[in-house]
Amino acid sequence: MIAGIIGSGAMGVGIAQVIATAGNKVLLLDVNRDTLEAAGRNIRASLDKLVAKKLLSQQKADDVFANVTFTQDYSSFSDCTFVLEAIVEDLQSKQQLFREINLFAPDTCIFASNTSSLSIASIASACKNPERFIGIHFFNPATVMQLVEVIPAVQTRPGLVEEMFDIIKGWGKIPVAAKDTPGFIVNRVARPFYGEAIRIMEEGIADCETIDWAMTTIGGFKMGPFALMDFIGHDVNYRVTESVFNSFFYDPRYKPSFTQKRLFEAGFYGRKSGRGFYDYTDGATQPKPSKDEQLGNRVVERIVAMLINEAADAIAMNITSEPDLETAMTKGVNYPKGLLAWADEWGIEKVISVIDGLYEEYHEDRYRVSALLRRMNRENRTFLS
Ligand SMILES: NC(=O)c1ccc[n+]([C@@H]2O[C@H](COP(=O)([O-])OP(=O)(O)OC[C@H]3O[C@@H](n4cnc5c(N)ncnc54)[C@H](O)[C@@H]3O)[C@@H](O)[C@H]2O)c1
Repeated sequence: MIAGIIGSGAMGVGIAQVIATAGNKVLLLDVNRDTLEAAGRNIRASLDKLVAKKLLSQQKADDVFANVTFTQDYSSFSDCTFVLEAIVEDLQSKQQLFREINLFAPDTCIFASNTSSLSIASIASACKNPERFIGIHFFNPATVMQLVEVIPAVQTRPGLVEEMFDIIKGWGKIPVAAKDTPGFIVNRVARPFYGEAIRIMEEGIADCETIDWAMTTIGGFKMGPFALMDFIGHDVNYRVTESVFNSFFYDPRYKPSFTQKRLFEAGFYGRKSGRGFYDYTDGATQPKPSKDEQLGNRVVERIVAMLINEAADAIAMNITSEPDLETAMTKGVNYPKGLLAWADEWGIEKVISVIDGLYEEYHEDRYRVSALLRRMNRENRTFLS
């Protein structure tokens, strides 16, 4: 394979390294010369680290680096068999890019987008032959995260998903298939992890540090929702939330919060700006959680029930298969277990009762139980066992 990767920012660099490590030639292009030069230094540093940790021989690291050509010239894409864009998240820019690539890449070349929130069909519509277009969504950092979502557009030709599955496995990654709907799998199903946590905090039921403590200590998640949002950055996390909400025609289940919007507007992006939900400036003291077990259990029950409900709804709407959903949430966002396995463990009746309890309290459409969970409960079914 000769792969063309366009955009050498956070994602493009990692993706280029992954594909080059699998022994393929990669052309990495960026409009910004400084970014492109930084990309070279980043790949080199990342490979050096692997050599230092004895995870890669010096020879292999040199070979991988030699596989990557840094370019600003589209005409070098004339031999590419695969082109993936990881440029700015803007539909017009992505469409314009593929109109240009059409002029240089061969007609047989597969075209792909790493978009997190735009529809694959809308980007594909800018291509001369959109049947070769597909969504290939990596997770950050691409060199570390194993999951890759594969999203066919309505235009995508039959067989291309299977072809991409083989290619992605060859890169050492784990592919899952998703429908071209907002947030695909992970960014859709994970919304309540953030949204419900903020809601609990906004209502004064528990503070950020207690919710984070409960979700990590009782729930078993690697990071609590507030620490994770601060880590991802509110510029990124708020935009994804807003985009999923807008794309779902304003379904109240995905409604963004004013709390996060204000952090975003204030430039309190989290770790990268020194302040988010927590204060990261030197010498700042971190607040202590209350460690109230009963409260912690209620917090975990509410957030996990909402996550399971979202997962069940994704299955009900055929967004993905049950095994792919479990893989997506454990490999894409490192959940301690699959949400469907969690539903089976708790019993579907418990999930329904937690969410029905919330509906009784609030009478908001946000707390509507997925029809699939009700049906499964009536029929006494479980997801996996
Ligand atoms: N950052 C994440 O966590 C993440 C995760 C998954 C997917 N994504 C998606 O990946 C894409 C890239 O995200 P990122 O975080 O790497 O962005 P980034 O801002 O770090 O990098 C984008 C790069 O694209 C370059 N660029 C912009 N327009 C260009 C053009 N017309 N031609 C060539 N280069 C151009 C910019 O100079 C920049 O270097 C986006 O679509 C984003 O939604 C991001």
